[in-house]
Amino acid sequence: MAFKIIHLNSVDSTNTYIDNLAKKGYPHGTVVVADTQTAGRGRFRRQWFSPPGRNIYMSILVRPEKTERRLSDFSVLPMLAGIACARAIQSVTGLPVCLKWPNDILLEEKKLGGILVESRIEAPGTELNAFFIIGIGINVNMKREDLPEDIKDMATSLYISTGREFSRELLIEEILREFFRLYEEFIAMGKGYIISEWQSLSTTIGRFVRCLLPDGREVAGKAIAVDEDGHLLVQTEGVIEVIKAGDVFHCSS
Ligand code: BTN
Repeated sequence: MAFKIIHLNSVDSTNTYIDNLAKKGYPHGTVVVADTQTAGRGRFRRQWFSPPGRNIYMSILVRPEKTERRLSDFSVLPMLAGIACARAIQSVTGLPVCLKWPNDILLEEKKLGGILVESRIEAPGTELNAFFIIGIGINVNMKREDLPEDIKDMATSLYISTGREFSRELLIEEILREFFRLYEEFIAMGKGYIISEWQSLSTTIGRFVRCLLPDGREVAGKAIAVDEDGHLLVQTEGVIEVIKAGDVFHCSS
């Protein structure tokens, strides 16, 4: 699969930048990589710490063909991106990275990276027109002293965990290769493979978790699986809760 990378020194957010390119008609496979972001964002509009010269900040434009899969199937894109990142980091560094629901990349139980997928679905007349932006942030060569106090204990980088620096270019190349290979498999075979592969790379499944939901509710129980839409199934006393969004904390193994 051919992809085209646009490199920027500084940008507000690679997701915002590629959104504007998508609205101008840029094709599937456009990728934006920035050295730093001045307004990088994470889930729930949280700030994504984006210092220059150290980490990966990138966005991929996915523009499905009209004849491809049902639009609802694309709900697995965050998982697909997570698998691509985990495999790429494992192959470049040899480190045992894993995934936490819904879209965190973990190393030694700390957050190494995150994925923010944003979708735009327009329906002018009956013609469906949709695109997805896959935003990926990975902490590569950042030092512990670079980290803001509020995330010092929760976040890590490849450098913090190993004391070694890694090539961001090599990691980006490998992530994109894995991403587009998985994307082609998903288009050909559907989302079942993505969900089972995500579950095998995830440390959430089988754990006791505490979930903070966007409405303020808290759910605690054992994470037993993800369903076909990528929602987390949590066995609580009596019922299985379907968690569609929120923050998940691992309680024990
Ligand atoms: C999260 O874990 O909350 C998701 C973080 C996603 C951060 C990346 S960095 C590149 C892209 N541009 C953004 O503004 N956000 C994503």
